[in-house]
Amino acid sequence: TNAESNGEQKDTSSNKKITLGFSQVGAESGWRTANTKSVQDSAKEAGFDLKFSDAQQKQENQIKALRTFIQQKVDVIAFSPVVESGWDTVLKEAKDAGIPVILTDRAVDSADTSLYETFIGSDFVEEGRRAGQWLVDQYKDSTEEINIVELQGTTGSAPAIDRQKGFAEVIASNPNLKVIASQTGDFTRAKGKEVMQAFLKANKKIDVLYAHNDDMGLGAIQAIEAAGLKPGVDIKIITVDGVKDGFVAASEGKINFIVECNPLLGPQLMQAVQDVVDGKEVEKRIVTEEGVFTSEDAKRELPNRQY
Ligand code: AHR
Repeated sequence: TNAESNGEQKDTSSNKKITLGFSQVGAESGWRTANTKSVQDSAKEAGFDLKFSDAQQKQENQIKALRTFIQQKVDVIAFSPVVESGWDTVLKEAKDAGIPVILTDRAVDSADTSLYETFIGSDFVEEGRRAGQWLVDQYKDSTEEINIVELQGTTGSAPAIDRQKGFAEVIASNPNLKVIASQTGDFTRAKGKEVMQAFLKANKKIDVLYAHNDDMGLGAIQAIEAAGLKPGVDIKIITVDGVKDGFVAASEGKINFIVECNPLLGPQLMQAVQDVVDGKEVEKRIVTEEGVFTSEDAKRELPNRQY
């Protein structure tokens, strides 16, 4: 007896279990942990078979993972690219194998956009602009020079490039706002602390720290306190993400302003995977909605923060 004569459904693409290969950046930050959980939980919820691979912040590991997914003939590949460039060859391999690719969180700079179906994630340039706008508003009446230090994310990553760009674009409206030092802290707490220590050693007057994520900001807070200064008061601090630990620091007044970056991309990703498998049209760009938080907002929101 075959499946049809039993009245069972045939194994068509719309009802067989979908295999999704997902290559994650790493486990560098609280944001990433929340993002990983969102992807894993929602894959389970959707009933997909998830093959999850952690690249430990290395592009070469990610390229290997993508090639393994191609060999395994997964139905869809999704990944959050560690850096922006250098993806054309492997993306072409996926395309030639007939496996659709979805980008989440971070973008690639490939000129050929037919190499992927869609890109789901934040507008990082806009996040940088929001950080810059807060600063411009804070110092609109000030006539003295404001010295800013910047802790950048992973070199060559979309969020580091874009958050720097958006910020620089907006603060350019006030010539008193000067970025006196800018260096990568690789999105980690340990590096954030280390680089902030160096900034403090090399610069007598630091008024503002702009950290491309909460974790680097939290590491920097340790360095600032160790130097006998008050974070949030002696040095104003702006971060991006809005994870729980960031909210705690903001509600204590140690971080003055947080630009939200939403890590909960899992549900939208699974929807896009299903649509791609079903042959439905998906938007080429799906932008995550997000807000901003002052210390006061953080105090109020903290009890509701899930990650
Ligand atoms: O790509 C998103 C960024 O990556 C987050 O802002 C940062 O915390 C993470 O490491």
